[in-house]
Amino acid sequence: MNQIKIDPERQIGKINRDIFGGFAEHLGRHIYGGIYDPGSPLADENGFRKDVLAAVRRLKMPVIRYPGGNFVSGYRWRDGVGPKEQRPARVELAWQDIESNHFGTDEFVAWCRALGTEPYLVVNAGDGDMREARDWVEYCNSATGSALANMRRANGFDAPHNVKFWGIGNEVDGAWQIGHKTPDEYARTYKEFAKVMRWVDPSIKLIASVTSDFRYQPVERTQLLFEQASDLLDYLAVHWYVGNHDDDFAKYMTLSEFFEARLSAFEGAIDAMRHEMGIERPISIAVDEWNVWYRARGNSREERNNLEERYNLEDALVVAMHFNAFIRHCRSVQMANIAQIVNVIAPIFTDEEGLFLQTIFHPFELFASNCGDIALDVFWKSDTFSGGNYNGIRTLDVSATIDAAGKKLSVFVVNRSQTDAIETTVTLQSGQYKGGLRAAVVNGPDIKAENSFEQPEQVTVRESRNRAEGKDYVHVFEPHSVTALVFEI
Ligand code: AHR
Repeated sequence: MNQIKIDPERQIGKINRDIFGGFAEHLGRHIYGGIYDPGSPLADENGFRKDVLAAVRRLKMPVIRYPGGNFVSGYRWRDGVGPKEQRPARVELAWQDIESNHFGTDEFVAWCRALGTEPYLVVNAGDGDMREARDWVEYCNSATGSALANMRRANGFDAPHNVKFWGIGNEVDGAWQIGHKTPDEYARTYKEFAKVMRWVDPSIKLIASVTSDFRYQPVERTQLLFEQASDLLDYLAVHWYVGNHDDDFAKYMTLSEFFEARLSAFEGAIDAMRHEMGIERPISIAVDEWNVWYRARGNSREERNNLEERYNLEDALVVAMHFNAFIRHCRSVQMANIAQIVNVIAPIFTDEEGLFLQTIFHPFELFASNCGDIALDVFWKSDTFSGGNYNGIRTLDVSATIDAAGKKLSVFVVNRSQTDAIETTVTLQSGQYKGGLRAAVVNGPDIKAENSFEQPEQVTVRESRNRAEGKDYVHVFEPHSVTALVFEI
């Protein structure tokens, strides 16, 4: 029997909505031709694409990371402020391009404010130095009469930008990074950068780059950061990208185990250090780059195709499984940023005339719109499947949340069967269903279905209303679907 049992009193913890964050890098058509296209009839007076703004608003992203990514490790923020005609075009080494710098800090912050989003800036700890990093904080956040605060004013921004989140470096553990660093080199760099950035603005939250690949000493990196800079750490960042490399659906669907293992391992490393050093305040995880990315990859520009990955339904299921994992790990995961937002490994895909929503847009919107304030510790049992190295994986992948008032229960279910609808009893172990129930389902004709300009709604969301009363509600979860059941209780 397939059953989900929920006790609203069995709570894991508060969910930080920053798990619905995004990431925008200067890469391919993300900024230019995606977010920013001043010559386009679709752009507003700032050059921001209005259709893109409207689509991003639907994702309710509370925070967006910028400007990279690998890009940031060669970036000079000063190149991207001031009169546009005076901004230098630079050779960009991370993605082998020319960067016009027509979009920079002020444009990004203005774009975020137009969205109601907090900007999260990453400083260059690749070929950049601590002076440049500290100056950037001052340019953005200082209300004084300093030359840098006045530079911002002269550029049209009288009030400070008040950028709260600051990352120090990107994927410093990887040899592909400009300024790749050993664990010790990075811990030392982090401490010195963080120290002066905090002296400029003591209120900022700092994010250390720890691991983009668990083969590159994540435990040692974590340990050294704690030993050298524990008082300067707010978040430790992990990145991952996944894909259906073997074209094996069952194996792909076992990625939930990978997410659990990676988050638990990272939580363990952080908790061990906090325990050893007697640190009581939380130090959180930021999964500040995550997504499906495996097709538009490779060493040459042609192979990478500007990272214009096209997504199908099975990828949408994997995106949903990420959110289930972040909700279940809400005590440690305080931020997560899908990489990226427009055109580049992204839920939104544009051309000069418009856009379409990729399959992965829909689970993102489903979770961001229906997620409550508190994660619940759900018990569920269901049919199982085998895939990759795993046996006995439950076909349903489940999380649940409740709002602060305790009246709205959201249950998120991924049915990982390619063929079977799964009838399941959703049992409320304390309290009662009050009647109202909304079901929103992301699905499409088959697991390889994609959206495109020609067929923008192959994979989409359908909503229906139903009633649930008493303690048990029976729902049939469609094959290869993501469902949000939102109950009044
Ligand atoms: O998001 C694309 C790239 O993936 C980022 O620039 C880098 O941080 C990661 O390797």
